Amino acid sequence: MNIIKVNNASQGAARAYDIFAETLTKGARVFGLATGSTPVPLYQRLVESPLDFSQATAINLDEYLGLSGNDPQSYHFFMAQHLFNHKAFKQTFIPDGKNPDRQAATSQYDRIIAENPIDLQLLGLGRNGHIGFNEPGTAFDSKTHIVDLTQSTIDANARFFDHEVDVPTQAISMGIGSVMSAKHILLMAFGAEKADAVAQMISGPITEKLPASVLQQHPNVTVIIDDAAAAKL
Ligand code: F6R
Repeated sequence: MNIIKVNNASQGAARAYDIFAETLTKGARVFGLATGSTPVPLYQRLVESPLDFSQATAINLDEYLGLSGNDPQSYHFFMAQHLFNHKAFKQTFIPDGKNPDRQAATSQYDRIIAENPIDLQLLGLGRNGHIGFNEPGTAFDSKTHIVDLTQSTIDANARFFDHEVDVPTQAISMGIGSVMSAKHILLMAFGAEKADAVAQMISGPITEKLPASVLQQHPNVTVIIDDAAAAKL
């Protein structure tokens, strides 16, 4: 793993921006994207930049089950608000959390990923070590699947909702096997609440109990962490 330490999230976004710019300039055309607080300053930089993604494809990691794209808490809404409404992409994909045929929704997403091999996959990190919505215990070779969110993730995401009971308890997520098939993985983690997961991810055992530990097995991973997230290394 190539570990880049920065003083704060803003510096981290600047480093991540440089990696996106370089990857795009070198001809990469498929970007795996994440939601959550972590990538927001990066997306702002991309929006303000002259970078041209009009020939690029974006494939998002995950979506809550049951929320329509118009729901402000949905990841469809999040991506439109923070990136896609402001920066043109050739095509964008986000798992369909509204499809009642879950089998069709997951296999359709696996087809999309197979047809568009991911050049650069952006990841955040859950406090419990999840990547995408692949919670502890998820198989390392998993494909797109339906997830029961853990209480830790529901608690962490409650800050985006008016009431904790409004947080969906299930999601549809790209699997760990698909994340691992990306050519380059860029994970960002900022803040003290990520310090335990960061330490386990980088120097703990490789175990499905800590999904991000699988990244130790990938040949091309860049991790950007701030001082607080690096505190337990
Ligand atoms: C979001 C996602 C999640 C988040 C993680 C960290 O698409 O896949 O794995 O990256 O929960 O969330 P934040 O950035 O809000 O701390």
